[in-house]
Amino acid sequence: MLNFSTHPPTLRLVVIGAGTMGRGIATAALQAGLATTLVDLAPEALEAARTTIERRLQRAVVSTAAGLEAFRCSTNLAEAVREANVVIEAIPEIEQAKIEIFAQIHACAPQYALLASNTSTMSVSTLAQACGGSDRVIGMHFFNPVHRMALVEIVTGAATSQETVADARALCARLGKDPIVVRDVPGFVTSRLGLLLGNAAMRLVEEGVASVADIDKAMRLGYGHPMGPLELADLVGLDARLNNLRSMLTRSGEPEYRAPAILERLVAAGQLGKKSGVGFYAYQGDAVQGLQPLLGLNGRVEHL
Ligand SMILES: NC(=O)c1ccc[n+]([C@@H]2O[C@H](COP(=O)([O-])OP(=O)(O)OC[C@H]3O[C@@H](n4cnc5c(N)ncnc54)[C@H](O)[C@@H]3O)[C@@H](O)[C@H]2O)c1
Repeated sequence: MLNFSTHPPTLRLVVIGAGTMGRGIATAALQAGLATTLVDLAPEALEAARTTIERRLQRAVVSTAAGLEAFRCSTNLAEAVREANVVIEAIPEIEQAKIEIFAQIHACAPQYALLASNTSTMSVSTLAQACGGSDRVIGMHFFNPVHRMALVEIVTGAATSQETVADARALCARLGKDPIVVRDVPGFVTSRLGLLLGNAAMRLVEEGVASVADIDKAMRLGYGHPMGPLELADLVGLDARLNNLRSMLTRSGEPEYRAPAILERLVAAGQLGKKSGVGFYAYQGDAVQGLQPLLGLNGRVEHL
């Protein structure tokens, strides 16, 4: 069993992938006082992540010096995971890439380390097979923005042991997160529900039923959602959303997960949502500036 209660921290958590989610998970871990290493292939992703994380820690008035002392960045996965107690993978939702990275982690991390994937749709059992059927592999699906969202969806694969589930729960407690435990089915609970709502909203845009802003307003004011489905897709990243839909379609075979044409076109145009400055909305920094220019003022799709 992992003991997350030691102080100063003697456990090291390694996050693989310094994108939207990896940065968020690393921030949450540092805020919780855990020694944390962030790994990415791309040095520029690590550099950008370091800037974001330092800013967040300063804003949170976490004892920044201690937080940053415990923070490392690396492009060398093998070396970074060698003394890891926990590894959380957060690379893009591409099955072959995740299988390869889990095989690498398994080869280099200690046998006792908890090996978690932040996958939104993929089979935890398949990832465990890449680790010789290890019972230490589990899904820990965090939500965006990680430092604000309380939920973690813990996904148990066929081989996942009860001790591994207990360790994942203990890690959630240490990070101040509130987990649910679900079986390993395509998309689990949250992606299965969330992707369908997002697809329905995008199809309403395609059909010209209402503007982007009004579709979001409908779900905020009518259903009490904190964000509309199109704002949420922009926050997630439209490329990440497209990967999730492709993965869900492959895994489930259900046609309702087919990506709407508008999503394919926005991604092909490099309009990836908030992170690229334009998605269903146009952004200035974190703030919405207006609708995405190609959609026209009424938010209808005929201009795209
Ligand atoms: N974006 C969201 O809102 C969200 C929410 C929940 C779960 N997820 C899941 O989290 C995972 C990551 O999504 P994201 O949006 O953070 O992706 P992202 O594209 O923002 O970041 C991925 C990072 O992984 C790096 N990377 C790619 N291959 C790598 C490798 N082999 N080794 C090391 N680093 C590598 C990339 O350079 C990039 O910095 C996906 O599985 C996604 O489904 C995303």
